[in-house]
Amino acid sequence: MLEEDPQLQSVVDKLLAGKQSLKILEIGCGSCSHVDFGPRAYIVGIDVSEKQLERNTILNEKICGDVETYEFPPEEYDVIICWWILEHLSQPYKALENCQKALKPDGIMILATPNVMSIKALVTKFTPHWFHVWFYRYIFGEKLAGVDDRVPFKTFLRMSIAPESIKRFAKEYGLSIERFHLYENPRQKNLRARHWLIDAAWKVLAVVTKVLSFGKLDAEMTDLIVVLKKPAVTPALV
Ligand SMILES: C[S@@+](CC[C@H](N)C(=O)[O-])C[C@H]1O[C@@H](n2cnc3c(N)ncnc32)[C@H](O)[C@@H]1O
Repeated sequence: MLEEDPQLQSVVDKLLAGKQSLKILEIGCGSCSHVDFGPRAYIVGIDVSEKQLERNTILNEKICGDVETYEFPPEEYDVIICWWILEHLSQPYKALENCQKALKPDGIMILATPNVMSIKALVTKFTPHWFHVWFYRYIFGEKLAGVDDRVPFKTFLRMSIAPESIKRFAKEYGLSIERFHLYENPRQKNLRARHWLIDAAWKVLAVVTKVLSFGKLDAEMTDLIVVLKKPAVTPALV
């Protein structure tokens, strides 16, 4: 079960029930995957990093390319996964448009991204990349952070991937929202649980930012998982 969203797998399973085979595209696939599609899946992964692609052992097909400009075949994929990639793109909306063109009718898109309207995302957006590498190495304890194309990656965190912008994107392209799950990142939760003082300071900061931003900024809901569905084509009447 996925810690970030315990219901995601069942939502996806229901939406894909009855499909004999699945062609899946994972953009910014990196070296791992988070959703299980079983043996009926043929998985294509695209990433700009050759090193990340080399480390990925679940892909049937690997593409080294940029998701903002790559020309995917139209209406080719049953599922398109954008997992922790949109925040790393300077033009994430372009990538989303690219993905929706490549999605088959009745296909689904799964997006996992930080909530850009959260304190965590704002701190990430306005601090330098070297600080992120330091944080991963010395606070999260990931010794290889930043080495050989490993996390953390450069971030842009554009407003075009804010929760409300994603809802607008869905509306613009006639995609239905099948799941919209805001949650607190387990890493933030663990960090707060480490010491009561960190937790207390965090709670004060949360209230202050909420008040000062008139409720627009969220301290707790750091991340977002969304499932969008393209309508099936209705057969032409004869
Ligand atoms: C945070 S990692 C996420 C990897 C994987 N999706 C996961 O959930 O673990 C971001 C990945 O996006 C890739 N990436 C960054 N910019 C990209 C772009 N313009 N086109 C394709 N991949 C890109 C990076 O190389 C990296 O592997």
